[in-house]
Amino acid sequence: MQVQSHYSDLLVIGAGLSGERAAAEAAAKGFSVIVLSIVPARRSHSSAAQGGMQASLGNSVMGEGDSPDVHFADTVKGSDWGCDQECARLFANGAPIEMRRLAAWGVPWNRVVAGRSVYFKGGEKFEKEEKKEKEGLITARAFGGTAKWRTCYTSDGTGHAVMCTMDNRCAELGITVLDRKDAVALIHDGMACTGAVVRCMRTGVLEEFRAKATVIATGGLGRLYKATTNAVICDGGGHIIALDTGVAPIGNPEAIQFHPTGIVPTDILVTEGCRGDGGTLLDVDQKRFMHIYEPEKAELASRDVVSRRMTEHMLAGKGVPSPYGEHLWLDIRHLGDRHISTKLREVDEICRHFLGVDPRKQLIPVRPTQHYAMAGIRTNKDGAVYGLKGLFSVGEAACWDMHGFNRLGGNSLAETVVAGGIVGAKIVEFLQGNEVAFSTAHARDALRKTEERVNSVATCANGRENVYAVREEMQQALMDGCFVFRNEADLQQCVARLQKTLDRARRVGLVSDGKGVCHELYSALRIEGQVKLALMIAKGALERKESRGSHNREDYSARDDKDWLNRTLAYWREGADMPELLYEDASPVFELPPGERGYGGGRIIPADPAWVAARTIK
Ligand code: FUM
Repeated sequence: MQVQSHYSDLLVIGAGLSGERAAAEAAAKGFSVIVLSIVPARRSHSSAAQGGMQASLGNSVMGEGDSPDVHFADTVKGSDWGCDQECARLFANGAPIEMRRLAAWGVPWNRVVAGRSVYFKGGEKFEKEEKKEKEGLITARAFGGTAKWRTCYTSDGTGHAVMCTMDNRCAELGITVLDRKDAVALIHDGMACTGAVVRCMRTGVLEEFRAKATVIATGGLGRLYKATTNAVICDGGGHIIALDTGVAPIGNPEAIQFHPTGIVPTDILVTEGCRGDGGTLLDVDQKRFMHIYEPEKAELASRDVVSRRMTEHMLAGKGVPSPYGEHLWLDIRHLGDRHISTKLREVDEICRHFLGVDPRKQLIPVRPTQHYAMAGIRTNKDGAVYGLKGLFSVGEAACWDMHGFNRLGGNSLAETVVAGGIVGAKIVEFLQGNEVAFSTAHARDALRKTEERVNSVATCANGRENVYAVREEMQQALMDGCFVFRNEADLQQCVARLQKTLDRARRVGLVSDGKGVCHELYSALRIEGQVKLALMIAKGALERKESRGSHNREDYSARDDKDWLNRTLAYWREGADMPELLYEDASPVFELPPGERGYGGGRIIPADPAWVAARTIK
């Protein structure tokens, strides 16, 4: 077999913000780096991020008194104490530095304008005076679950602005970024990873990319669900090649975030910045309701809480009927033309182009929709994947894990660059401190297996199941059984349904010939892994007998710190039909011992005080 081989010190799979940030760190230290992406880098899903990045710069008057300590506390509370507090601390400390670095690299942040301005909170107008001495510094807007205004932004196109800047930075550093390359298997021997087998999406040819270190930075898995804000490329590709090794676990697969404001019916995101800037949620009677459930934070409670309260309100008969199912309204009319045309201009375009709605005059139909996976490839705090030396993961693909069971809005875009920098630096240490021997046998073995898989689906060797029909069934199973609210009966049914779907996924055969540019083959190579991931989500949710963050069990409504202050580790062992679930402590240490979040309500079953005290940093 004649195969094109590529060698580099570092192979980065995924050209979104976290992948490119890690790449930049290694390239700046003189290491050779290749970045692979299924789409042109600037079309990565990072570009779709709207509202901003959290960092405690405290420049705006509404951010006064902010600090990494306050940001850390908000993040831990946001996670419902499910996060690794060491990672949350690294993140909160690193975020302000990284925002300034991005400014130096060219990000056109919105800046403080001195003087008096009008703002809104919960529909009420108020005025604030920005200080003269802060004029021109990076400003911030409000987001949910935060004590201070901390979300740095470039209007509502933050991801786009930062992504272009980061890609320019990679070009400056001479990094090779190759698009239309799909990593379909890792090269490994069960102990160490030395690259990936990659299918060129233009030619269909398989290539090997061998590297001393490999990073999976492929983003999320939202497309496992039918209703999601995620781009079609967020299909769990990186998670799948990791779990296919049988060695690398997925952390907290049941921890899936639902964003309160996906538009109906397309599920495109309209940013939390709408509510941060003073937008309100209205019900069928065009009345506000969030303050009834959440008197303190109202529309600006954390996302898990707002999505839960919206769903409760619709279940109580207050949803707006529509041909596409019930929804609620987002109202930003009072923010006015100037604000909408400057700070919410993408929202304006989305509403006009996808809904035919002018948000200056009309209400926006919204409801909770899948948005983010706190679930991801489990790594340690250096970003090293459990079980495979030389394999790292970062960004949404990873469970690093600073988000626990609920990520705060604005914390993931910031994580991409903060964790990207931290993990990139750890990879540099790894490259400096390790000799790596490449085995031809392992690479050839991975190639041969991939070639066999391609031939088997192309020749319908195992059956003729249609990949799109199987995918539809998987997506619907998760929608029906594992959405905002979960319970034993629905989850059991969901697991059973997905087991049947897995059997079908293993019998997928192509209608097309599978040659060259072939989206059907691309999808067919993923489908078994996607259903396995879906099973991990449903099984993880079924076994977790408590409610924490975005994991809401109707039948176990308390947060149970006594038995469940832990993280699920889901493995898919070779030849298995179901995931194996193990558990580890949520955090090795507590800087902030478990307590009340201050919003969201709910009963807490406390952990043993002696156990908490023993791991609390004094
Ligand atoms: O609502 C938003 O702008 C999304 C931000 C995020 O997911 O962090």
